[in-house]
Amino acid sequence: MIRLNYRNVNSFVVGEQGLNIEQEFADYKERIQNIITDLNQRKDKPGQWLQWMNLGYSEETVWYVKEFASMVKGRFENILVLGIGGSALGGIAVTEALLKPYWNLLTKEQRNNYPRIFFLDNIDPDTMHGLLNMLDLKKTLVNVITKSGSTAETMSQYMIIKDLLEKELGDDYRKNIVATTDQRVGVLRQLADQEGYKTFVIPDGVGGRFSVFSAVGLLPFALVGLDIDKIMSGVKDMDLALKNTDIYENIAAQGALINYLMDTKLNKRLSVMMPYSSRLKYISDWYVQLWAESLGKEYNRNGEKVNVGPTPIKALGATDQHSQIQLYNEGPNDKLITFIRVDNFENDLEIPRIFEYTGIGYLGGKTINDLINAEADSTRVALADYNRPTMTINLEKVDEYNIAQLLYMLEVQTAIAGELYNIDAFNQPGVEQAKNYTYALMGRAGYEDSAQSLQEKLVTA
Ligand code: PA5
Repeated sequence: MIRLNYRNVNSFVVGEQGLNIEQEFADYKERIQNIITDLNQRKDKPGQWLQWMNLGYSEETVWYVKEFASMVKGRFENILVLGIGGSALGGIAVTEALLKPYWNLLTKEQRNNYPRIFFLDNIDPDTMHGLLNMLDLKKTLVNVITKSGSTAETMSQYMIIKDLLEKELGDDYRKNIVATTDQRVGVLRQLADQEGYKTFVIPDGVGGRFSVFSAVGLLPFALVGLDIDKIMSGVKDMDLALKNTDIYENIAAQGALINYLMDTKLNKRLSVMMPYSSRLKYISDWYVQLWAESLGKEYNRNGEKVNVGPTPIKALGATDQHSQIQLYNEGPNDKLITFIRVDNFENDLEIPRIFEYTGIGYLGGKTINDLINAEADSTRVALADYNRPTMTINLEKVDEYNIAQLLYMLEVQTAIAGELYNIDAFNQPGVEQAKNYTYALMGRAGYEDSAQSLQEKLVTA
């Protein structure tokens, strides 16, 4: 199981910039117990948006996903995922972590006959044009993913690609599209049913940023040969561990409480996620969305205006030691840094014993593995010297089982933090606002009134 080391948030390490964890855990023991019990009791109720807590047990989805993946194996050179936010970030994070590095540059044999994978999660016309110029759409399976079925970015990409596919393939274009969306509602659901696409369902009560273990993630993972059974065991084992209501045993509760207290008691408004592994770089992107969209809220559950939410920041070790660490050590003491440290990398890379009598001779005979973890440890200690609080999540290795545990743990941590802040972690009114303005600007029916006032605001802005 993954482990959480929170020693360096203690005041006995970082002085008054830290917490008396023993005392805090004792004070919050009952509150945490109630929160975990309550989340588990509410999770099956409609309207609670907690169905993601059941995804580890959805054997039926796993079965359908595996069946489809084995049916199309060898038929496509590329998978192209269309989606944005929660419909893309989990897929990107997990494939970057688990596929062989530089996957898309490997030969078909090196990829064991599995396809290359591309995520189009933005609408930059030049990037999209470039990608479409490069891909042979006839040999591409397009997985369009949107829970609402109407997100302008995703649906405009889909419209462009559907049109191109149809021109190239005639009626057969349908075999190159698979849709992942709501079971009943939304434009994509309606179109997919009309067009006769293969579809996968994003279950009720699963919001975008909590959907990585639904077909949103599982389908792309299976299509490129990741072991989704191992992913599901990681989720299940972590879920069982996190059902423990004891703060001393539950790492998601510990992480949530420490983040919450650092923000509200010690004014550490910034929460940095810093993995020491390039393969985990995009886990930070996923985490930033999860934390920001879930916890950044104007109103609490009592309807009071609170404007809460720690600001998440992504960093990468060791790279950002040469960019952000100067600020983290000596700038404002307003951050809690969470490191992710990998105990065992898949490869050992030895540094040759050359240039022995120069200033770099000491490196010879060591491994790059030694170096990256020495840097993780020394940065943590140096930050403590400056009285900067940090936590470390330890992963035994980067594989399906551990990555699934990590992501699921962070989801539960976010849900518990939401309860501590007393806000709804599962809505996103601030995102909807901009979405609605976009509809108005682009002339969607029903948005005419706001279009007029929006034009005026744009002129004055
Ligand atoms: O987490 C969320 O709910 C959002 O980030 C959504 O995933 C994002 O806005 C995309 O929405 P949809 O899947 O409806 O296209």
